[in-house]
Order: sequence, then structure tokens, then C-alpha cells
Amino acid sequence: MGNVKVLVGAQWGDEGKGKWIDILAKDVDLVARYQGGNNAGHTLYVAGEKVVLHQIPSGAFQGKISALTAGVVVNPSELVAEIEKIRHHADLTPERLWLSARAHVITPWHIYQDGRNEAQAEKPIGTTKRGIGPTYSEKASRIGLRLGDYIHETRRQAWIDTRCRQDEAFAAFYKSSADAWSQFNSAATALTPYVCDTEAKIRNALRFGKRMLFEGAQGVLLDIDHGTYPFVTSSSTAASGAFASVGFSAKLVDHTYGVAKAYATRVGEGPFPTELNDDMGVKLAKNGHEFGATTGRPRRCGWLDGVALRYSLEVNGIDSIILNKMDILNDFEEIKVAIAYQHPKLGKITDFPWDPEVLDACQPIYETFPGWMQDIPKSGKISDLPQQAIDFVRGVERIIGGQVSMVGTGVNREDGLFR
Ligand code: GDP
Ligand code: IMO
Ligand code: MG
Repeated sequence: MGNVKVLVGAQWGDEGKGKWIDILAKDVDLVARYQGGNNAGHTLYVAGEKVVLHQIPSGAFQGKISALTAGVVVNPSELVAEIEKIRHHADLTPERLWLSARAHVITPWHIYQDGRNEAQAEKPIGTTKRGIGPTYSEKASRIGLRLGDYIHETRRQAWIDTRCRQDEAFAAFYKSSADAWSQFNSAATALTPYVCDTEAKIRNALRFGKRMLFEGAQGVLLDIDHGTYPFVTSSSTAASGAFASVGFSAKLVDHTYGVAKAYATRVGEGPFPTELNDDMGVKLAKNGHEFGATTGRPRRCGWLDGVALRYSLEVNGIDSIILNKMDILNDFEEIKVAIAYQHPKLGKITDFPWDPEVLDACQPIYETFPGWMQDIPKSGKISDLPQQAIDFVRGVERIIGGQVSMVGTGVNREDGLFR
């Protein structure tokens, strides 16, 4: 058995990963973000204060080592601001914060392109406009800027000069956005002490038996390969992204958690078969305070999608599901879970389709559960739940063919039920 745990979002993001990382971080030595950038917004409560983390791992408040590994993209000035923002709760010295020299840097150019692409697209994706897609695109095109080069003024400037020579659009943008570039450049000094060969340090720590937790951002259904392409983010959000980002054996993983809300949400465009455009959807959004932690956009809401969740379990090798935000369903008389889809031409579908057009045309086939219509206990065991809530959890387990190991009951560290 290995010392590594991985936690991923099992839906379209915002499942409550931040809170659960904070809880699980107690038992590890290091927490690492392995993909994504400041498109993520992970919410947790520290001493009653709400904190939203965009780039720093959500284990920082448990005093653990925080690492960003090679597959992450970094916005330098936003990261400096984030380190400052949380300093009164977490003193992130270079011993406690490792930033990968291999991570790619989000520049003003990438942010500009993200906005322009969205504005010009026939079918916009509804990105967070944080420059994520363009940064990963240029990484894949092998013309990106890595953090290890960014922190050296001469290498950074050489990268900018080369891009100006090779790309007229870049040159024009560079000339017209001096303030953004000066802010971009000025973060380098502050980040320099943290930049290191994070991956080598992690492998070394693994050799010494250190325990680690890898924190996924976004969710499996937004994965670049396995999600509802093109309505996805640009990184490998699935658990396998952790091995690729750090470079270690998958055999070291001892448990993969998938966090799923007891219902479903999605921000941005793309198919969402169980979306509710009625009073029930409004009630889920209201009870669940479903507004994006990064962009503030309202999240689309719907019932739990068992077909999609089954798929997430398989894609990730999820060992157990954390069924989060169950308390949001406390006053629902009936709760539905999709067990299959009905497609107008293809008939009944039980496997999550690769084609977003097929998914878009699918109508969910639901199983209905009676609600428990009372507050659930905040802490304790899953078996302390009212009978209807236990039946719901068991029903979800049956539908997805997997185990629920924990249940979320509120926003705080203490708000969870365990098996
Ligand atoms: P993440 O991106 O997966 O970390 O999730 P977000 O922070 O974007 O969104 C989750 C939201 O649900 C945040 O506002 C959390 O404070 C809140 N939350 C997390 N767990 C629970 C829970 O069990 N119950 C309730 N009511 N809220 C929760
Ligand atoms: P956390 O980690 C929910 C969505 C965007 C858009 C698509 C592509 O907080 O769960 P991008 O800016 O990544 O190119 O946008 O992905 N998206 C998220 N949705 N939670 C997130 O992160 C998200 N990060 C990106 O809304 O649909
Ligand atoms: Mg979020």
C-alpha cells in the first residue's frame, strides 16, 4: 500500500474539493495541486473566515507543505497576492511552498487571447477568462514560458523578444499593454525563493515515506480527454493527471476519492442532461448558494447524474465517493437521480457518451427517492442519518456501483459524516 491519496472532482467542478482537502490534509505531510490554474476556486472556512483559494493547495491551513507540480499553470501576480492574502492564517515559507520550475506561466497575452477567443467564438465555452486554454495550448506547441525561466529576468525578456519577433499579434499586444506586463514582471522577485524542482523533491519525500494528498481542480467531466469536449478545461483533471504531472508510480496510490455533490451543477456552457430549468433548479441554487467561487457566475443546477458519476468512477479508478452538500436537500420532498438516458434516436443509453451532441439530446431516466424533510446531523457517522437519507446514500451506491465513504453536511471543517 502506498502513501499517496488523490482527490478529484467527480462532476463539473465545485463539488467542495477545497473543504475536503482541508479535512484530509490533517493526516498527510504534503498537499499538491497537479493541474489547472486560477480558474479553480476552492472554498474553505478557517477559524470562521471564508477563504477562497485559486492556486495554493487547500492543505495550507493545516500547516502542511504545499506544492504546485509541473502540470499546473501559474499566474504570477495573482499567486503573490494569494500568498499575501492568507499570510495571517498560513505562513508559506519556501520550506512550505514548492513551486515547480516546470509549471507554465500564464502571461497577459494568454489572458487577452482567452477573452478574444471567447468573444469571437461561434459557440463560446464560457471559460473563466483566466488564460488557461491559451497557456496550455502554447505549452503543447512548445512555445510557452516556464516558471523556472520566468523568474530570470534575462530569460523572461528573451522569451518576450522572441515572441515579438515571431508573432505580429503578440508584438502589437505587447506594445499596447505595458501596465499588464510591468505587473507581470514585478511578481518574479517575490516568487523566486519558492521555485524549485518540485517533482524531484516529491519523489524524494515519497522515498522517505512521506504521506501525500493530490488535489484535483475542476472535475472529471471537464477533463481535456475524458470530459464533454470541447466544453472542458485544458488539463488532465482526472486522477491520472497527478502521475503525469509529478512523475511517480500509480502503484503508490492507496486511495482515490471522488467528491460529488448530492445533486449536480455546472458553470459555463456544455451539455448537462439533468439540468433543471424550473423551480427545483432555482431551489437547489438558492439552498446551495450556487455561484462560482472564481467568477461569481450563477451555476446551472440539476439532479445527481448517476450515468455521469458511474463514468467518473471508472475513468479515475475512484475507490470511494464523498457525497457532499447533502444538507442542501434537507427540505426536498422528493429527490431524483438519473439512472440512464433516453435518446430520441438511440433509445436507452446507460454509458456516458463521448459525443456532446448525443449528450445534449439525452433525457434523463430517473429513480425517485423520498426526501428526509429534516436537518441532518452535522457530524458523526453516516449511520446517524435519518432512514430516508440512508436509503438515498445506499441508492446512490447501488446506481453508481461504488462506495460512499463520507457525506458533507455543511461548509465547515467539522461538517462531515464518516462511515
Ligand atoms: P471546489 O471548487 O470543489 O473546492 O468547491 P467550491 O468552493 O467552488 O464550491 C463548493 C461550495 O460549497 C463552497 O461554497 C463551500 O463552502 C460549500 N460547501 C462545501 N461542502 C459543503 C457541504 O457539505 N454543505 C454545504 N451546505 N456547503 C458546502
Ligand atoms: P474548481 O477547481 C467549475 C469551467 C469553466 C468553463 C470550462 C473552461 O473550482 O472546481 P477554463 O477557464 O478552465 O478554460 O474554462 O471549465 N471551469 C470550472 N467550472 N469549477 C472550476 O474549478 C472550473 N474551472 C474551469 O466554467 O466551462
Ligand atoms: Mg470551485
